[in-house]
Amino acid sequence: CGIVGYIGPREAYPIIIEGLKRLEYRGYDSAGIALFDGTNLGVCKTKGKVADLENKFNSHTSKSGHIGIGHTRWATHGVPNDINSHPHYSNSGNLVIIHNGIIENYDSLKKELISRGYTFQSDTDTEVLVNLIEDVKKKENVKLGQAVQIALNQVIGAYAIAVFDKTQPKEIVIARLGSPLAIGVGKNEFFIASDASPFIEYTQNAIYLEDEEMAIIRLHKDIKVRKIKDDSLVAPYVQKLQMNLDQIEKGGFEHFMLKEIYEQPKAITDTYRGRLNREEAIIKMSSVEDNMKKFLAADRIIIVACGTSWHAGLVAEYIFEDLARIPVEVEYASEFRYRNPIITEKDVVIAISQSGETADTLAAIKLAKSKGAFVFGVCNVVGSSIARETHTGAYTHAGPEIGVASTKAFTTQITVLSLIALRLARAKGTISSSDFRHHLLEFEMIPKKVEKALESDAHIKMIADIYKDSKNCLYLGRGYNFPVALEGALKLKEISYIHAEGYPAAEMKHGPIALIDENMPVVVIATKKGHYEKVVSNIQEIKSRKGKIIGIVTEGDVDVRELADHVIEVPETLESLSPLLTTIPLQLLSYHIAVLLGKNVDQPRNLAKSVTVE
Ligand code: G6P
Repeated sequence: CGIVGYIGPREAYPIIIEGLKRLEYRGYDSAGIALFDGTNLGVCKTKGKVADLENKFNSHTSKSGHIGIGHTRWATHGVPNDINSHPHYSNSGNLVIIHNGIIENYDSLKKELISRGYTFQSDTDTEVLVNLIEDVKKKENVKLGQAVQIALNQVIGAYAIAVFDKTQPKEIVIARLGSPLAIGVGKNEFFIASDASPFIEYTQNAIYLEDEEMAIIRLHKDIKVRKIKDDSLVAPYVQKLQMNLDQIEKGGFEHFMLKEIYEQPKAITDTYRGRLNREEAIIKMSSVEDNMKKFLAADRIIIVACGTSWHAGLVAEYIFEDLARIPVEVEYASEFRYRNPIITEKDVVIAISQSGETADTLAAIKLAKSKGAFVFGVCNVVGSSIARETHTGAYTHAGPEIGVASTKAFTTQITVLSLIALRLARAKGTISSSDFRHHLLEFEMIPKKVEKALESDAHIKMIADIYKDSKNCLYLGRGYNFPVALEGALKLKEISYIHAEGYPAAEMKHGPIALIDENMPVVVIATKKGHYEKVVSNIQEIKSRKGKIIGIVTEGDVDVRELADHVIEVPETLESLSPLLTTIPLQLLSYHIAVLLGKNVDQPRNLAKSVTVE
């Protein structure tokens, strides 16, 4: 989601609307603005894009006011509709809030507030938060800033918030934990935004809040930054911005694809947060719990998807069969829908789609439903067609993916599917409790390990430079990493237009080996736990045909290093989780090759982000 706010002498409305447009990459399923005109606190909000909000304002809402906050939403709690859109009022109507993130303990807080007479209009965790602040304010008889500080100490979760109180109309209180917030410092005016893009033309001075910090922004006063935990004061650091608009929208990255590659540690964390609880050794996903009987009675799981999502399905096949011992078939949605497939009421169908709009996947879902199968969706876009058409599902919380070549959607799909597989394995008793705990522990270390894998970026760029003019490229992997090889090849094809093929390493000798000569780069995933010795033998076969070997290896590897022309290290993890790490260097390799070749990385020719035609 995106946040924008303004307090100062100018009209707030145009600043906020334009700011929201710049933040739409962060989410665009609904939008809203609260404006205070000196007497009235008006809120206008709507499902849809910022342009829809503008239209709504044009027809019946006053645009005047020098103080305001606005929001563009990527739904987490509650479907995207007018009521669930932000801002949200408190019960008294005095407070309004906008919020990014998830309040995990919102349910217990809500029950408590209901018992004290509070009522709720929406399904959001945000409305709980604003009433909690109001409740604290009344009970403790404190000002807004202190009420926010006390309330946030009762909250578990992640947030960036901006709150306004019409009884103290010269200030806005903001706070962050896990979601970014910047303050633009102008002359007698302040701007608030999720990134600096909404205020870059007004001021170059910015304060970036750190996690667990809040700020009280008062007209004609200095900004007070405080630690949420203990209310201690922090000296604000005013940074001089040296960016142009274009860069900022991409968060300082040259392309959306690179930004999205780098967002993976956060995207994976956001996806398992609230679902995986290591201390209690549980995985909890309500849509799985509610349908546990269906999952456990299933004869098999059929996965339908297209493109990169299909590759995530192939990884899931390994993990479901290996850990949960449930037979899995992975199908291209486009083939499945047209080949009169055998589907029964005892089948569970999992449909995977980033956009939630892919026409073939949607049609496959409808077909499976018509045959009585239970259909579960794994989508990134909240409220998308596939999310609505499936019986139930689990979202990947990757945030908007703009680069056409999918990156963070893939790793978050694997995250969700792994969580489901582990949950089912536990329910079926096919995994021991100590193995289960070990998986949870390793899972929690994945984001840090992805960060580590990203550190090879410069080294990968150098390798990209050596091979950028190749006409062909082969990608090999075994077991869990065979689908990663397919995905690596797809990434290269999509954005650099170099012909690439992914193959199971052992199958190479049945065909692709004929292609190998000194001009053929071969990317081999050879991590320690995945049939390592066998892959090393495959590497030897390539070497004796003079192929150029780029090995993706476990940190500290010796054997492959001796044979390969280049190695790229990834941290060690469980074999079942290794695709989350081995994918990273392959994404970077294709990215750098495409950039070096001068291709349009974010919008490659002939492709589209969401394919709504069959
Ligand atoms: C298009 C995109 C791919 C994506 C595929 C499936 O081809 O360019 O990146 O993997 O569609 O899309 P979905 O939204 O269903 O995951």
